[in-house]
Amino acid sequence: MKISIFGLGYVGAVSCACLAKLGHTVIGVDVAQAKVDLLAAGKCPIIEDELPELLAEMHALGRISATTDAVKAINETDVALVCVGTPSTKSGGVNATYLEGVCKQIGEAVRNSDHEFFTVLSRSTSMPVVHDRLVDILAESSGSAMGDRIGYVCHPEFLREGAAVADFFGPPKIVFGVTDEKTRKVCSQLYPGIEAETFYLDMRVAAMVKYADNCFHAVKVTFGNEIGMICREMDIDATAVMEVFCQDRKLNISPRYLRPGQAFGGSCLPKDLRAMLDMARQTAMTLPMLEGSVRSNKAQIDALLARVVSPERPRVGIIGLAFKEGTDDIRESPIVNVVEQLCGKGHPVKIYDAHLSVQSLVGANRSFALQSIPHLAELLSQDLQGVIAESDVVLVSHRLSPEQWSNIKWRDDQRVLDLVKIDTLQGAPGYEGLYW
Ligand SMILES: NC(=O)c1ccc[n+]([C@@H]2O[C@H](COP(=O)([O-])OP(=O)(O)OC[C@H]3O[C@@H](n4cnc5c(N)ncnc54)[C@H](O)[C@@H]3O)[C@@H](O)[C@H]2O)c1
Repeated sequence: MKISIFGLGYVGAVSCACLAKLGHTVIGVDVAQAKVDLLAAGKCPIIEDELPELLAEMHALGRISATTDAVKAINETDVALVCVGTPSTKSGGVNATYLEGVCKQIGEAVRNSDHEFFTVLSRSTSMPVVHDRLVDILAESSGSAMGDRIGYVCHPEFLREGAAVADFFGPPKIVFGVTDEKTRKVCSQLYPGIEAETFYLDMRVAAMVKYADNCFHAVKVTFGNEIGMICREMDIDATAVMEVFCQDRKLNISPRYLRPGQAFGGSCLPKDLRAMLDMARQTAMTLPMLEGSVRSNKAQIDALLARVVSPERPRVGIIGLAFKEGTDDIRESPIVNVVEQLCGKGHPVKIYDAHLSVQSLVGANRSFALQSIPHLAELLSQDLQGVIAESDVVLVSHRLSPEQWSNIKWRDDQRVLDLVKIDTLQGAPGYEGLYW
């Protein structure tokens, strides 16, 4: 393919050399004359391992040229890869000025060109709303709807500076957020020979994948560092702790606990988190991220309540009170807290939990239950259909079995708020997923 690459910074320079290596012909475009001159001479505009050699080699093969003339570059290529900077605004938002300017330039050039179809891929990181705006700008400036003469792709970039060339040829994944079928076909020809799991996604989902990745990486670093801080205070080898932590691929370094869903609770997580924070306080240390997770968990419960509580005081049916299914442990179950607050605000509440009866609760479990909800016995029922029939809003926190759900008679006027993502429930009238 013939590809123009807008922005010859870290991402653009690596893309030039590596796409040329894959057999494409590339034209680098930048407003900075100095960068264009360097690339045009086969020299590397940035410091990056392996890059100067690869650029020189590809330049010698005649696969790389450079210009400040955007129109010329568009006329001579079929695909544009936009890699311009997206710095922060004063409030931390995405300054998309360069991105918007380049898209307008590209759209106008396409309008005045002979291109039957032109594909624009954005590697620059920006919020979904920015991509929406870029699509509008491209459509308006080219005079064409997406998929007609022009197509747009949010194509986030996952390479690490310092290892960018190696990462380009062995990426963690390839993500295309496409707007139309023609564009999708072009994407499939971009990386011949590169083996990586490739995802074709909705454009806005693709944009958020990049932010989720980077936020998670930030959280990982912070977590390791907070464990480091508290370990140092207790004279414990933090590296040894995290070494073993990372070996656990079942619960720690795994998809476990990473799906959007209800707040955490139970007899261990809140208690052990509290113990860590108490230990930190004793040594006058702050662990803002771990502290934050306590606050964040409370915010989850508040947000859930805000979706249920109203002056009409709808009757609420709770399906599952224990902190997770298959147990009768209700200690620090977030749903107990929800019930407490709903009762406090005057909502009639009924609870179905197959494993719970006040008579069978003993020890700490019993005292927690009765302290939080003294009249629990009056709320509990073993009749699933009965609880649902008497509710205006049904909060489902346990999955139950597909058979149990298939026999339920729903009313059209009731809401079903699913906290655990149950496939068989999704056809119920009034169905709402927590985050889906
Ligand atoms: N650096 C990374 O490792 C990395 C990784 C993933 C994603 N990203 C994202 O990729 C984007 C680019 O990052 P970068 O680090 O390469 O930026 P950079 O600042 O190094 O390079 C941006 C280049 O764009 C050029 N530019 C600005 N306006 C232009 C225009 N109108 N026409 C042509 N060129 C123009 C600038 O002169 C500059 O050379 C950003 O959105 C960034 O968030 C960067």
